[in-house]
Amino acid sequence: TKNADLLPPLKVAVTGAAGQIGYALVMRIASGEMLGKDQLIDLNLIETEAGMSPLRGVMMELEDGAFPLLSSVTATSDLNKGFGDINYAMLVGASPRGPGMERSDLMAANAKIFAEQGKALNTSAAVNAKVLVVGNPANTNALVASENAPDMWEEQFIAMTRLDQSRAQALLAEKAGADVKDVDRVIIWGNHSASQYPDLSHARIGGKWAKSIVKDDKWIKDEFIPRVQKRGAEVISARGASSAASAASAALDTVRDLHLGSGDAWQSNAVVSDGGYGIHKGLWYSVPTICKGDSHFRRVQRLPIDDFSAKMMTATEKELIEERDAVRHLLPGHESKPV
Ligand code: NAD
Ligand code: LMR
Repeated sequence: TKNADLLPPLKVAVTGAAGQIGYALVMRIASGEMLGKDQLIDLNLIETEAGMSPLRGVMMELEDGAFPLLSSVTATSDLNKGFGDINYAMLVGASPRGPGMERSDLMAANAKIFAEQGKALNTSAAVNAKVLVVGNPANTNALVASENAPDMWEEQFIAMTRLDQSRAQALLAEKAGADVKDVDRVIIWGNHSASQYPDLSHARIGGKWAKSIVKDDKWIKDEFIPRVQKRGAEVISARGASSAASAASAALDTVRDLHLGSGDAWQSNAVVSDGGYGIHKGLWYSVPTICKGDSHFRRVQRLPIDDFSAKMMTATEKELIEERDAVRHLLPGHESKPV
């Protein structure tokens, strides 16, 4: 590409940039895989004071990659500087869980990070900025960040459930002996946790109903659903650390689809509930969305929901209400009264 054909820089902030996911993510953002091969990028890398030394190494490696699309790289632990005029923020920095923990065990340590970051985004980000929350517990962290950013739309905050969707697509493709690219309309409902509901009711393989190809309800209930729900833990027990390259890939897929669009495909994203499907308004609840580009999503509305699905969707909603109640002290104006 000639320089004259390149689009003026967009600013992307990544928190936790020296961590496992950050390390995998920033190289791929710099290579143009996320915002397009004609899009210049200003990258703001945000870390804790303690993370500054490894971050210097990441900066050196970004330099050594000689990425033609990378206009500038800034490293900082100052949130207002790091989020200054950004178009996209990818909030990755937070503690990961270890073996035997649930993601909600991270709440006490991590949720307050997102209160602080919500405030800084509110002050410093570009008006139309989009924020992807990856750090766990992702849905509730997104709620906390948004509630602390009163001048931003709730729709500007998304919590990541794309990794769960990709896991579900891969598992279904394997079961059916199909190519993963032919699998679509797999849905993740609810929380990015073991209560999530990976739903194949609407899924298709090569345009045909997945359920009519798989013809195995027992497999769906006893293997597929629990396997997707617990895949994060399965990776942790094998690797001794939580998924990183696949999480970075899913984060990149999420923002790429928001920015460049993914046609009529359904992409699961945890977004603020508008009350659709009877889900409590104001929770960050994963639903199928359609991304037409220009950084907007549309919720897929009014799908038929059978009794089994309704039960599963309510169970994960209940967990999100409990998580919200546990962080009430971080929701301005709701500290002592119901949200
Ligand atoms: P990691 O420990 O390798 O890296 C986290 C980095 O964040 C560290 O470098 C740390 O210094 C930094 N950090 C901590 N607090 C920060 C703050 N306040 N501001 C800026 N930086 C901060 O962890 P990881 O494996 O990269 O995982 C990061 C998070 O992502 C974890 O919470 C993990 O559970 C979560 N995760 C989510 C998904 C998902 O699908 N939503 C998938 C995988 C991991
Ligand atoms: C995942 O789904 O892999 C991440 O959320 C990490 C974890 O704790 O499972």
